[in-house]
Amino acid sequence: MLVANAQTQPKVYTIASGQVKAHIEPTMYGIFFEDINLAADGGVYAELVKNRSFEFDSHLAGWQQQQKAGGKGGIEVVDRTNERPENAHTIKIDVSDNAGYFGLSNEGFRGMGIKKGETYSFSVTARKPVANAVSLLVELHSAKGLVIGTAIITPTSTDWKKYNVKFVATATEDKASLYVWLKGKGAVELDMISLFPQHTWKNRPAGLRADLVQKLADMKPGFLRFPGGCIVEGRDLANRYQWKKSIGDIDKRENLINRWNMEFKHRPAPDYYQTFGLGFMEYFMTAEDIGATPLPILNCGMACQYNTGQLVPLDQLDPYVQDALDLIEFANGGPDTKWGKLRADLGHPKPFNLKVLGVGNEQWGEQYIARWKIFTKAIKDKYPYVKIVSSVGPSPNGEEFTRLDKFFRAEHADILDEHYYQAPKWFLDNATRYDNYDRKGPKIFAGEYAAQSVAIASPDNKNNWDCALAEAAFMTGLERNADVVSMASYAPLFAHVDGWQWTPDLIWFDNLRSYGTPNYYVQQLFSLNKGTDVVPLLKDGEMVTGQDGCYATASIDKSTKELIIKFVNSGATAQPVVFKIDGVSAGKKTAVVTTLRSADKAAVNSFKAPKLVSPVASTLLVNGKTVKVTVEPYTFKVIRLKLN
Ligand code: AHR
Repeated sequence: MLVANAQTQPKVYTIASGQVKAHIEPTMYGIFFEDINLAADGGVYAELVKNRSFEFDSHLAGWQQQQKAGGKGGIEVVDRTNERPENAHTIKIDVSDNAGYFGLSNEGFRGMGIKKGETYSFSVTARKPVANAVSLLVELHSAKGLVIGTAIITPTSTDWKKYNVKFVATATEDKASLYVWLKGKGAVELDMISLFPQHTWKNRPAGLRADLVQKLADMKPGFLRFPGGCIVEGRDLANRYQWKKSIGDIDKRENLINRWNMEFKHRPAPDYYQTFGLGFMEYFMTAEDIGATPLPILNCGMACQYNTGQLVPLDQLDPYVQDALDLIEFANGGPDTKWGKLRADLGHPKPFNLKVLGVGNEQWGEQYIARWKIFTKAIKDKYPYVKIVSSVGPSPNGEEFTRLDKFFRAEHADILDEHYYQAPKWFLDNATRYDNYDRKGPKIFAGEYAAQSVAIASPDNKNNWDCALAEAAFMTGLERNADVVSMASYAPLFAHVDGWQWTPDLIWFDNLRSYGTPNYYVQQLFSLNKGTDVVPLLKDGEMVTGQDGCYATASIDKSTKELIIKFVNSGATAQPVVFKIDGVSAGKKTAVVTTLRSADKAAVNSFKAPKLVSPVASTLLVNGKTVKVTVEPYTFKVIRLKLN
């Protein structure tokens, strides 16, 4: 007689689909956006010209003087600080004779991504010091120097005026550059030299890269946290993010050095600045577009504690607090309020329905507590309905974490922002992290997390399946505890393959393409299949939190009347499993199964194989109340089944 191998014996799980354990907030799985790794300038913000307004510290960074066929002239940087302190520099090009070509070229953000047949919109602000007949010949050059697009603009005025021209590119090129030649004899002053694809997200002029925002929309995120991250804090206070400077006329948004510019000596990016073309108005609108709750995080009077840790004295905190109050009015106020009117004037009369706001990013210490108290009192006094996200520091445990956690619990704080950049094993071991949290205490926002394959922020970290699978296992623990955890987001979000500072990241892109990592698909599967309420999924009366390498959670979706099972097999052995489900009808039906797996834990997605690890859909015939399935090694499965 054959004795069945223990591993082939199915494990039996019970699911009581009628016993709601916890409500899952619609905000549960969201997005953390930060301008790191060229995520905004050079990434989502579709501007192709780097240093368009000559405000980098080195005013001609990204630009190169060009001449051919005997063209002669000069380029001078003009300082107009007194007139326009927020956009203080322009250039003057002077051509001394009609022969040849003289001008300058822009290298873009690690090149410019240009698509054949796509319409491009070139614009420039110009004035002629004296009337003359010069015109601007605009050309797109391929990396090999071929002209792949061309247009002409003739400035007409001796006053500053914006000029636009559209043209179609004749070839696809990921490392193109832009040339601006001055034709004719004479001088012209230029500023805001800009090039955008006409096709952007929702085809908004001077908008966002459609493929990248689509990747976010495809996650159906519950919230969008912006603008970061440490970028909120700045390396010093002067370098902090100020939302009021990020709205309104594009040429009045004061540029600022990006705090990630030289953070990592091994990944220097001295040409990384913020134009704020993706500013608070664009963040709010993008959140609205993709159905996500907006979650702005504001500086609380502290610069990054990993850098200078500069502090605003408590008696000088008012302007910072006022920024927070004004932001709420900007987002929610009526047209009869100062900031609500500004929002309406900027094209959005409807409020953005801001309900949650972060005070500080990744802060810690008594200094944070002191500033948090002032902010919280002011915000709650005026807007008691706004929930405040509070930082419990950069680590998921330790002295600082414990101190802040204790303080905020005593204060009955709304939401605590926990961060964990840890090894994959930590994620597997911490699937039970929230099982014993106080159910009546503050909600938890797992605000930044990502499994690190080598070490925190190591340049050798990979977005491999090992990390993604560990995150999936951990996320079953977030979902089982949805009564405590109300929001979660992977971080960082985007990385340019030629311009990143930090890895791993959820979505990688170059100048033309993008791909989701295995981690992206884990996030997406959780988000698309979150359901509305958690129900018990037990084995031998216990929750499934890593026994035999298996992790699981079950929820129901009240609107679609479905049961959703999420099951992670983190082990090397296939797991035959049986789910015995209370609450489904007898008879035959079909379950929809989505499988995300790789036999190779080191597997990564790439431009060559962007979907190497990506979800595969199948169906499963189910008879009665019993679902039988084999979960392959190193696999994350989602099963959806109609309830009675
Ligand atoms: O996600 C990258 C950085 O990690 C964030 O800016 C910061 O909050 C954390 O330290």
